[in-house]
Formats: sequence, C-alpha cells, structure tokens
Amino acid sequence: MIEIQVLRFDREKDKEPYFEKFSIEEKEKMNILDGLNYINNKYNLNLSFRSSCRAAQCGSCGLKLNNEAVLACKSELRDGDIISPLDFPVLKDLIVDKSEIDEKVAIMNLFLVDETYFKNKTHKKEDKKKNPLIIPSIDCENTKRVRSCIECYSCLSSCPVIKQSTEFAGPYFMRYLSKFDFDPRDKEDRTRESVENGLYSCTSCGKCSEVCPKNINSFSDAIEKLRVLAYEKDLGPLDVHKNIKKIIAKTGRSVEPSDEGFIKKINMHKKDSRNKIAIFTGCMVDYRLQDIGFGLMDVLKKNGISADVPEEQVCCGSPLLRTGQIDLIKDLVSKNFEVLSKYDTIITLCAGCGATLKNDYPKYGAKLDVLDISEFLVDKLNTVDMKPLGMKVTYHDPCHLIRGQGISKQPRDILNKIKGVEFIEMESSDQCCGSGGGVKAGKPEIARALSKEKVELVKKVDVDAVITICPFCQYNIQDGLNEEGLNNVSVMNILELLKKSYS
Ligand code: FES
Repeated sequence: MIEIQVLRFDREKDKEPYFEKFSIEEKEKMNILDGLNYINNKYNLNLSFRSSCRAAQCGSCGLKLNNEAVLACKSELRDGDIISPLDFPVLKDLIVDKSEIDEKVAIMNLFLVDETYFKNKTHKKEDKKKNPLIIPSIDCENTKRVRSCIECYSCLSSCPVIKQSTEFAGPYFMRYLSKFDFDPRDKEDRTRESVENGLYSCTSCGKCSEVCPKNINSFSDAIEKLRVLAYEKDLGPLDVHKNIKKIIAKTGRSVEPSDEGFIKKINMHKKDSRNKIAIFTGCMVDYRLQDIGFGLMDVLKKNGISADVPEEQVCCGSPLLRTGQIDLIKDLVSKNFEVLSKYDTIITLCAGCGATLKNDYPKYGAKLDVLDISEFLVDKLNTVDMKPLGMKVTYHDPCHLIRGQGISKQPRDILNKIKGVEFIEMESSDQCCGSGGGVKAGKPEIARALSKEKVELVKKVDVDAVITICPFCQYNIQDGLNEEGLNNVSVMNILELLKKSYS
C-alpha cells in the first residue's frame, strides 16, 4: 500500500482547499492518472482532474507532483506523494481555470497573420504554384522545438517571474511570439510585441524548460533568439545592458576594473612553467569578489593542487549572449579559446561562466574540458587539515549550475565533508533568486522581489550562512537579506567556507 495526498477544493462549495489522504494498493509503476482513477473507483469519489490522450501528447493532464509541474499520465506515483493543481485559479480539485491564458492569446493575436490569405481568400493549388511560399530551412530549424509545445501550461505555472511581475507575459507566450517571428508568412511585428511583453524580464532560470514535458527550453529556444532579433532591429536591449557591452568592448571585462584585479595580483610572482589546470575566474571574481579567488588558491594549495590563472582570459560573453548582443562573441570566444585550449582542464568559479563555456562555446567551435569548482574538488578534498567551523549552513542552487550544468550533488557533498558544518537543506533550494539573464541590472525590481522570496525560504531554516557558487546569486541574496534586516545570516561562496575551514 502507498499513501498519497491530494489537494481538494470546490469553488462552489469549499471555503478553503484541504488535503485528503488516500491509500492505494501498490502496482508496479503506476502513474498519477492511474492512481487518481483508482481512487475514484475504490472510494467511489468524484475527484476531478483532466486527461485525454493518456500518452503525454495532449497536455490536458498537467498538475503538480510534490510542488513540481508534471503531466499526470507521464509521472510515476510513489508513497508520500502530494498532488495539487497547477498554479492557476482552481475550479474543482485538480481542474484549473485556463480562460485567462486563452484571453491573453486572443488579445496578443497569437495566430498566424498572413496578409496573402486575406487578400486572395483562396488557397488553391494553382495559386500556390504561381507564388510558392518557401520557408527557409533555417527558420524551420529556429522554430522546430517551440512548435512541439502541447499547451500543458506547466511553464506558466512554474515561472518565478510571472508570479512577481505582470510585465512578463511568460515562457508560453514568448515561445509563440518567436514561432511567428521566424515564420515568413506572419506579417505582425512579433519582436516588438515580445519587447512590449517583458522580453527583458526573464531571468533565464530554466525552470520552464525543466518542467516542460517536451523539453523545450523557452529561454534558449525562444527568448534568447527574440533578444537577438530585438538587438538587430534596435528594439533592445535595455540601456544598462548596452553599457555593459561598451565596457566589455573597452576592457574585455563586464565590470569596470576598479583596482588591480585578482588575476594580475596572483600572477605577479608566477614562474614560467605551465600547469595542466587553468582557472577561469569570470569578471566578478577578478574585480569584485577577489576573496573567492584568493580562497580558491589557498584551498588548492592545502590539497596539493597546482593551477594557473591565465592573464589573457577575458569575459566569457555571458552578459552579451543572454541579452542578445552577439556581435562581440566570436572575438571573446576566440581570445579565451586561444589561451584556455592549452590546458587539459578549465575550472570555473561562477555558474554563469561555467554554463557559457560548456553550453555556448561549442556552438562557436570552441570545445573545452570545463569543470565547475565543485565538480573538480568534490573527490579531492583533504579533510584532515580542516578545523571544525561550528556553523549551520544551507545551500542555494544557482540556476546556471543546477539547470545549466546539471550540478546539485557535488556542492552538497562538499558541504557535508567540511568539519563542524551542519548542512540544512532549505525548501525550494533551486528557486531562482532573480539575478540572472540581465534582470539584476535591467529590472532590479524583479530581482528584488525574487530575492525577497528566497529570503523567506532562508528564514525557515535556522542557519548562519547561505552557501552558493555564483557571484550574481551571492550579491542578490545578500541584498535581499540586508533589505529584510536578516543581519545574522551571510551569503558565502563555497570557496570562502572552505578557506575558513583550512585557516
Ligand atoms: S492525458 Fe494527454 S498529456 Fe496526459
């Protein structure tokens, strides 16, 4: 027997939603839909839910399993599972009201607007032969993935930004806009519409892609492409993003160099010999959070590891890629590739840089052997020299690490190895903090709202520090803690914690 809970509510009768427990006779690999049908049969109930194809094709059975959006016909049911409706107004039990979405689709004209259709009103074969419409293969390629959407709306239910801001239409709508933008038959100005519907409000957290049953990555498959089009048509990005591009063009760094950078300092007394491992610091560690860099050097030394921090490295290009300003990218990639390809392994200290080097660089022909610092260190740490820290910590998963690089276990393993550290998992540790995708710079109010949400989750655990591996998350969560007056909790990079344990 397994026990599950289902959130129940009837808009016509109940004042408040409530959880009801059900026992289900265990069958091998029962999916949620089978489980819900079983409950209705066994308990003679009218538990309400939607389904149709039962084959992950129609999208009608979307709901939440343990707070994550899934298709009921595709997801296995296990003991202790909690089933609830998607985050839309509930009509009854697991059935939600999607009329607002349909209304928005109508308002936004999300259908193919083809002037020739209205002019000719005939789509006879002879007419088509006279004037054949050929969709270039590159445009087909550009929309191939977004066209596979089955309208389950899991992405809209899970998007952290639309819960905080009305200016962002959401991933589902952005996918539609990009689909039509790349369709030569469509005559509307979809790029402009996407800008007007919050194109620069997406944090690129990738949650929509994680929950999508068709594995559509709404950011890279739609939003990033729309941002490129907006840049080409001079409809975007925001001024603050343009300014970052100017700084990169001038200095090779995305932040204005404030004093001598970490890389210069560390290379002052460098010997001529070359190691096999290179550290890619990223702009923030080079100029803004140098303690992380120095912490890393101490940690490597304590573990008998030698690595170079090549001086010629420049910005990875992530701030430009994420905002559609791609004209400098080839140059940045080739500069970094020239220096980094001489090494066997490249270690990154920033989730965003790591994801860019791993996922974007190969598209430009620059394939490197890149490891996040947690991947690299997890099996190498000497725990003998560690001093007990007497700290309680929790961990925030940076989006570009957990979803961008699939890394979540290694940082936790490291935290569990550090002496005198009690690691307490916080609820929704992978919930976006709001700093990515150019949002911290361009839409600070959204970044603030999301970091506030993160702080609420931190408040639920009694810890001294939030540990992470992304300078942008570190800044944004710290800002949130400061604003909320949580002065007894700090945000630290995992390397700062390791350094502390070795000193
Ligand atoms: S019933 Fe059609 S997708 Fe699940």
